[in-house]
Amino acid sequence: MTSAAQNVSRRQIVKGVAALAGASLLPDAKAAPKTPSMLWGVSTSAYQVEGNNLNTDIWMLEQMPGGFFKERSGDACDHYHRFREDIQLFAKLGFNSYRFSVEWARVEPIKGSFSQAELDHYVAMAQACRDNGIVPCITLHHFSSPLWFARQGGWENPEAPELFARYCGTVAEKLGPLAGAYFTINEINLPPELARYRLNPAMAGLIHMQEMIQKATNQPNFSSMLIGDPAKVGPIFIESHKRAVKAIKACCSTVPVGMTLALRDHQAVAGGEATLKEIQATDYDPYFELAKQDDFVAIQCYSRVRVGAGGEMPPADGVEKTQTDWEFYPAALEESIRYAAAQTGKPVWVTENGIATEDDTRRIAYIREAMAGLQRCLDDKIRVGGYFHWSAFDNFEWNSGYRPHFGLIAVDRQTFVRTPKPSASLLGHYTLKSKV
Ligand code: BGC
Repeated sequence: MTSAAQNVSRRQIVKGVAALAGASLLPDAKAAPKTPSMLWGVSTSAYQVEGNNLNTDIWMLEQMPGGFFKERSGDACDHYHRFREDIQLFAKLGFNSYRFSVEWARVEPIKGSFSQAELDHYVAMAQACRDNGIVPCITLHHFSSPLWFARQGGWENPEAPELFARYCGTVAEKLGPLAGAYFTINEINLPPELARYRLNPAMAGLIHMQEMIQKATNQPNFSSMLIGDPAKVGPIFIESHKRAVKAIKACCSTVPVGMTLALRDHQAVAGGEATLKEIQATDYDPYFELAKQDDFVAIQCYSRVRVGAGGEMPPADGVEKTQTDWEFYPAALEESIRYAAAQTGKPVWVTENGIATEDDTRRIAYIREAMAGLQRCLDDKIRVGGYFHWSAFDNFEWNSGYRPHFGLIAVDRQTFVRTPKPSASLLGHYTLKSKV
């Protein structure tokens, strides 16, 4: 994205915020929700909400003494058992779609041996969505993999594309027309970013972690996407996506399929233009090319990252930061939608967007600004197929444990009681007018 384009976007945001100032906190109850043609949903991932995903590589990483996980996931939100009530709640809040992931380790607990009972579980989830007027949109890999897969080299194993495609085909065949869309790999473009992190001495722990697990498990090939060698994982991810799309299309040719991309709204500060181009060339360009073969480009954006001559910079002093230490920057949504649309010419699906905060009034402010940007994209006739907020629940935020609260719905960690926040009904009933 050019800095000129960003300046335009920022000016537009300021105008949008001014126009919205004075609007009441909650929308008019009679307001027509979203646009007729747009998926409007919440997003989760199996590992972060289901609980007890014991047979996965991440569960193993959590248990490692001296590892980088602040807390263990444990029961998470017990969504595995409570999905029916949860889906009813999403419908009641005004959403018409739900993005969730299938846990590969549950449906293929042993290499080549699929569990009909677990496949039925995900069919029941998709059916519960349909029964409540919700379109189920399904991610097939959201960071966690089966333990057997990690032991055999995970995403560094040249056999991975074939194994992943077989699993994806099995799920798609079982779900048939129940699924509204598939996303193969969540944030498939993370490897180049992880490769940069590994150059930072402060992140040496990542490499150390891989060695530690290999020794502790006596599995010299153990590899997981977050700790594996990004130079190997990157190309294998791309091949896995291609093979998975074929396997899904072979049984469900009309269901839209894509992958999701992490878009961190990289912006050059003076002197950072060339470095920005280098980052775009590794983190985005090859994936936008890949997305051109798909039915849509799915993006996940939360904030911006400024880029100087020396690389990515932390948020500027004095800016508002969220619980994850990211800048409060809702304009990232509009800027990322425009960028992905311009680069691919494909309809854009926003599969994650949100903030971690204890203060729901800040989430509301973020949503209002982000929605104003989304509306401007629609006004400019950019095709946006769906918006899924991250996240439905205050859930397990990977190595940060349960502290960062991304949820529209709070979850009591002892009783699992769900309490929707004001932001949940604001967003569920948000009105957008589509010009597309
Ligand atoms: C991931 C989610 C994560 C969120 C917030 C995204 O990168 O897909 O699993 O919880 O960011 O960190």
